[in-house]
Amino acid sequence: MTYSRIVGTGRYLPERIVTNADLEKIVDTSDEWIRTRTGVERRHVVAEDETTSDMCVEAAKTAIKDAGIDFADIDLVITGTTSPDLIFPNVSTLIQHRLGIPACTAFSLEAACTGFIYALTLADKFIRLGDAKCALVIGAECITKLMDWSDRNTCVLFGDGAGAVIVKPSDEPGIMSCHLGADGQYRDLLYYPVGASNQLAKAGTDEAAIQMTGSEVFKVAVKTLGGIAAETLEKAGIDKSELDWLIPHQANIRIIQATAKRLDLPMEKVILTVQDHGNTSAASVPMALDVGIRDGRVEKGQLILMEAFGGGFTWGSVLMRL
Ligand code: COA
Repeated sequence: MTYSRIVGTGRYLPERIVTNADLEKIVDTSDEWIRTRTGVERRHVVAEDETTSDMCVEAAKTAIKDAGIDFADIDLVITGTTSPDLIFPNVSTLIQHRLGIPACTAFSLEAACTGFIYALTLADKFIRLGDAKCALVIGAECITKLMDWSDRNTCVLFGDGAGAVIVKPSDEPGIMSCHLGADGQYRDLLYYPVGASNQLAKAGTDEAAIQMTGSEVFKVAVKTLGGIAAETLEKAGIDKSELDWLIPHQANIRIIQATAKRLDLPMEKVILTVQDHGNTSAASVPMALDVGIRDGRVEKGQLILMEAFGGGFTWGSVLMRL
């Protein structure tokens, strides 16, 4: 049986850093409030002329180098993002062309903060079915461009970035179990009101920004993430005590602590980037994975649970050995 395995990682963060102190000058908030309620201390923000594909190309170059492969080896590109450069062509085709990857299967998908987990799950299936030999999988977001900087409910939370992984076939797992879910009944708790076919709210108006009922999102996120972590482990026949690392979506330190507690995992076994990156939506899990690997904490052969939750709501998890 063929499995799939992550063989290289990379990340890109925009140069500009916005601290909580910077936000104190824009909205009625405080560093203390943001730190204690969210865990965020700073976030990276894209330049006006910087796009999602710009960030993806940089993250992908690092992942390709890390994997020791050639651009020409890649035959599948999947990008999870809610902030693509354009509605079409999809951002994966822009990345494929800019990197000089030969014509191949390339698409993007939109599952809000769960975008990377959805993308990785699909790449795993392509590879296990023999339909791809080398996948570039990216989670990326220019989410601050969808935000209203004068709305203190949202502007303190988000940041931009891109994380990329290379996935290849392997005789040994690799990715062991994937679990995806979604329920549109929660649409109104977290959404962006402007789309291609629903133009009721036009870009440029006050309404053209992320809308969120934070406390309700918080409750469903804690309940759902605890549940999927347990289900994913059960599906793979793994006991939670065997886990080496939890690499969660970095939305809020309190949501992450609640999930770790449900798994009886000490926080030393959780990769945390929320303090430095904020919530980077689909980019947060692959960037946290890259941080953990590059600083030497996450090692080859270790058992890792990655999970995410986002607008929709969507949710998902991937259990794997690195
Ligand atoms: N600075 C200072 N005060 C703020 C504030 C800010 N940036 N944002 C809200 N407040 C105030 C509120 O107005 C409220 O004041 P009141 O008590 O006088 O009415 C108070 O802080 C508490 O607000 P509440 O919304 O209940 O806070 P909370 O503890 O739920 O924290 C979030 C707010 C947004 C941090 C939290 O709900 C959260 O993280 N939710 C999940 C969001 C998320 O993860 N979204 C992405 C999902 S992928």
